[in-house]
Amino acid sequence: MIYGERIRFRRAEKDDLPLFMEWINDPDVTEGLTLYLPMGLWEEEEWFAGLAKRPQAERPMTVEIPDGDGWRAIGNLSFFNIDAVARSGEIGIMLGDKSIWNQGYGTEAMRLLLKHGFETLNLNRIQLYVYDANIWAIRTYEKVGFIHEGRKRQALFKNGKYQDILIMSVLREEWEKE
Ligand SMILES: CC(C)(COP(=O)(O)OP(=O)(O)OC[C@H]1O[C@@H](n2cnc3c(N)ncnc32)[C@H](O)[C@@H]1OP(=O)(O)O)[C@@H](O)C(=O)NCCC(=O)NCCS
Repeated sequence: MIYGERIRFRRAEKDDLPLFMEWINDPDVTEGLTLYLPMGLWEEEEWFAGLAKRPQAERPMTVEIPDGDGWRAIGNLSFFNIDAVARSGEIGIMLGDKSIWNQGYGTEAMRLLLKHGFETLNLNRIQLYVYDANIWAIRTYEKVGFIHEGRKRQALFKNGKYQDILIMSVLREEWEKE
């Protein structure tokens, strides 16, 4: 487990798939994500089986918050495209439980993921892509120190129109100064 103040990360399990399915079939959640077609459980299971071939550091983790005597899943996140030579990696986050949005959990999860990336995985650069219209996610990333680095113009077609995709990153030296 990786523990923060109000959240923890654990390895995503096969039992999480029905919940992940609900989230990735909710248009409110997928508005800012690459997913745009309905997803079936069998497709989700294929994706999950494929994770075994990915390096351990790149397998998704489930984000949980305390709930009664136990813990409740609110989302998932992951590193991917880790480059061992450049010591860089990319991250993605989906908090699918809409009841907890805008209560600081995304900010805390991103802070904890950065700490994990720099202190445990020993990365030097962490980057992400975010859609221009996802102001909410952009704000979350800015709050934890991500710097705007570039813009891929009209790189996305969603909801009947083209959108830009932004590239944001944090370097270890910037994170250490935070
Ligand atoms: C994006 C996401 C990670 C944010 O998590 P969260 O827990 O809701 O975010 P937080 O509460 O920590 O912070 C949200 C910030 O955005 C701000 N915000 C929310 N809606 C906003 C809007 N429409 N315009 C501008 N800022 C907005 C909030 O005010 C807050 O900033 P503040 O603390 O300065 O007030 C999460 O909601 C999520 O996973 N969404 C669905 C999937 C997704 O879009 N993932 C990102 C793909 S790149």
